[in-house]
Amino acid sequence: MKNNQLVKIAQKLGTPIYIYNANTIKQKCKELKQNLKGINLYYACKANSNPEIIKIVYKEGFGIETVSPGEIAIAHKAGVPISKITFTCGSIDKNEIISVAKQGIRIHLDSLNQVEIFGKHFKGREVSVRLNLMVGAGHHSHVITGGPDSKFGIDISQIKELKKLAHKYNLHVTGLHQHIGSNVLNAGTFLKGVKAMFDTAILFPELNHLDFGGGFGVPYRPEEKPFDVKKFAVDMKKQIENFNKKYGKRIRISFEPGRYLVAESGSLLVKLTDIKYNPTKTFVGVNSGMNHLIRPAIYDSYHEIINISNPSGKKIKVTIAGNICESGDVFAKDRIITKPKIGDILEIKNTGAYGYAMSSEYNSRPKPKEFLMMGDKIKRI
Ligand code: LLP
Repeated sequence: MKNNQLVKIAQKLGTPIYIYNANTIKQKCKELKQNLKGINLYYACKANSNPEIIKIVYKEGFGIETVSPGEIAIAHKAGVPISKITFTCGSIDKNEIISVAKQGIRIHLDSLNQVEIFGKHFKGREVSVRLNLMVGAGHHSHVITGGPDSKFGIDISQIKELKKLAHKYNLHVTGLHQHIGSNVLNAGTFLKGVKAMFDTAILFPELNHLDFGGGFGVPYRPEEKPFDVKKFAVDMKKQIENFNKKYGKRIRISFEPGRYLVAESGSLLVKLTDIKYNPTKTFVGVNSGMNHLIRPAIYDSYHEIINISNPSGKKIKVTIAGNICESGDVFAKDRIITKPKIGDILEIKNTGAYGYAMSSEYNSRPKPKEFLMMGDKIKRI
């Protein structure tokens, strides 16, 4: 969207606001579907669980991956049938496992304890388990989910125990799941995880389903290159064919991307409220903060920021800070932007994923409103 149009929107609707472009989401969905034909796709709605966003992705042919009863309820209310919902979660209690399983939702069990609970209550049933195959990747240590330090999945060294437990309760391990981490830009790294999964899957004779999780990255920094879906799809298909030949039957394959579908569709529009020309730094204050977009504060994440009120002026170096009482509440350090003045609108880009979803009312400041742009129409969502 053009800068001057966005400024008008911000002035009309007020700031801070999240604004998402429906067309971008649809385009990302189509890109994955076209390249990964024959593969089941689930949207990891933790990235952005606004019901209107879930509706768009579901209409594009995606199921929904959930991690809590709350997400199940939102997806269901948005019109997604239970048969198109999956559930993956660690550290949950007996009641949650039983309640989700009773609804007929496919659960990827995360620990031997979860398998034991499931077995006691659902003897003889099919079961899917999440494994930690010691392959991990991601943009920050907080989001790497494979390897000895990860809390997720059943450790590869415990496959024998897993099989024993399954045998004890006559469970049929028909599904395996893995998620190596988030914002993986290198397709080769992702494929290492895929290979580890296929190498392990051969040890389970009753499989009908393998889920490779999410994690496809998007470029946030100007020098980053997009995830090469086309090349990834070619290499993935080769691995699938090889596996099917070795295994002797065709297995359903799934992915569950979150960020990839929604990150680039969203912007956080904020207003410049304060400027401090200190001796060594210029601080620019805005009417939003880490309670609205926490990624820079907790992962040191980079988001492109544009002064859309003055996009082609003289450039200066500034540190862009929020209005929360913590010195970590900074959106960008020593960033070059066009010279700002109080009242200017800044666009914080690529915030459609893990932006609003991770927001809070810390400091008792309300969450921002969310709007969806569909062509030239805009609605509050
Ligand atoms: N599947 C599972 C089991 C997951 O745990 C996740 C993300 C996904 C799929 C989707 O991953 P994606 O495609 O979005 O990378 N708050 C962090 C990201 C945390 C991701 C947690 N799990 C961030 O803002 O970077």
